[in-house]
This record gives sequence, structure tokens and C-alpha cells, in this order.
Amino acid sequence: MITSLTIRPETSADWPAVAEIITSAFTAAFGESAEAELVQRIRKAGLIEIALVAEQDGAIGGHIVFSRLDVTGDGRTLNALALAPVSVTPALQRSGIGGRLIEAGHAVARERGFDAVFLLGHPTYYPRFGYSAAGAAPFRAPFGGDHFMALALKPGTLDVASGTVAYPPPWGL
Ligand SMILES: CC(C)(COP(=O)(O)OP(=O)(O)OC[C@H]1O[C@@H](n2cnc3c(N)ncnc32)[C@H](O)[C@@H]1OP(=O)(O)O)[C@@H](O)C(=O)NCCC(=O)NCCS
Repeated sequence: MITSLTIRPETSADWPAVAEIITSAFTAAFGESAEAELVQRIRKAGLIEIALVAEQDGAIGGHIVFSRLDVTGDGRTLNALALAPVSVTPALQRSGIGGRLIEAGHAVARERGFDAVFLLGHPTYYPRFGYSAAGAAPFRAPFGGDHFMALALKPGTLDVASGTVAYPPPWGL
């Protein structure tokens, strides 16, 4: 049970610890990890809008990034973000840290007026935060299927006949 967790914005001093957490979380889950390098590329390109860390007793146990995406819906530009990656140190998983980071990120994104968030992720995890594959389905994107999901931060944002989602070059898609 996590009792004294602080969610705060990432600083450059956190970058080495953050890279370790991303690598350990993804390696434990998938056997390999290129996500820390992806974060470095999108950071360097200035695309990161929100980066938060979860800190407990002075140690970072989790991290989340929201970065800018190029999205249109029915010909109009949407102010949209990609959520990727979210990582929790393996020993601290399943204690609510991932959920706290996601909800905190959404709160900041709403405050800053973003319209929507897109992600590629587990179809059994993200719907509890409001994401759905149906929300992402009208958008032509490099991904599809039940892992590609979207969340409207403003009601109605995803109610479009058609749209496009383009990931900026650092994503290498
Ligand atoms: C996914 C991740 C960020 C979740 O963080 P967390 O702090 O463990 O999650 P929470 O404690 O908030 O939520 C736990 C719930 O998430 C679910 N969950 C965790 N990882 C999951 C996964 N890979 N697939 C499906 N569900 C998952 C658990 O089953 C648990 O569900 P329950 O509450 O019904 O038991 C974390 O497990 C992690 O870092 N995984 C490795 C990296 C990764 O896969 N990132 C996401 C890429 S899509």
C-alpha cells in the first residue's frame, strides 16, 4: 500500500532515474525496451507537454509522458496529446501509482485546454480512465484495432466523421 506518494512535474535532474524506471518497467513486461530512447528523442524535439514523476520517500517510482500529436477531425486541428510511455518500477506495480499518474496527467491536460489524448496500450487497462478504441476509430493513424484508444478531454471532441493522427518524426513511425 502506497501512503506517501507525491506526483510532481519532472525536472532535468530526474532524467537518469526516469530512464532507469522506463527501461526496468518495459523490460520486465516485454523482455526489451526502446521506450527510454523514444522519450529522449521526443524530449529533444521539444514535443513533451506534460512529464510527471511519482515520488515516494525521495525516490522516483513512476513516470508518465504526454507529448504533442498532429491531429485533425473533420478538417479542423485538434489540440491533442499522445500518452506514452507510462512506467512504474516493477516492485511498486499494482499499488495504484500508474493510475495516479494517468489521472494527474489528465488534470493538467484539461487545465491547459487540450482536447484529446491518444495512446496505444492494453485494452483491459485504459478503459477505466475513459479511453476507448471506438473514440480513436474515426481517425486514420499508424495504428488501429483495440489497442489504439482515445479519450476526449472535452466532450464531443472525438465525435467526428473522419480525422487523422500523425506522430511527429521522432516517433519513427
Ligand atoms: C502499466 C503500468 C504503468 C500500470 O501501473 P500500475 O501502478 O501497476 O497500475 P495501477 O496500480 O494503477 O493499476 C493496476 C491495474 O492495472 C492492471 N495492469 C497493470 N499492467 C497491466 C497490463 N500490462 N495489462 C493489463 N492490465 C494491467 C492490473 O491488472 C491492475 O488491475 P486491477 O486493479 O484490476 O487488479 C505498469 O504496470 C507498468 O509500468 N508496466 C510496464 C510498462 C507498460 O506496460 N506501460 C504501459 C504501456 S501500454
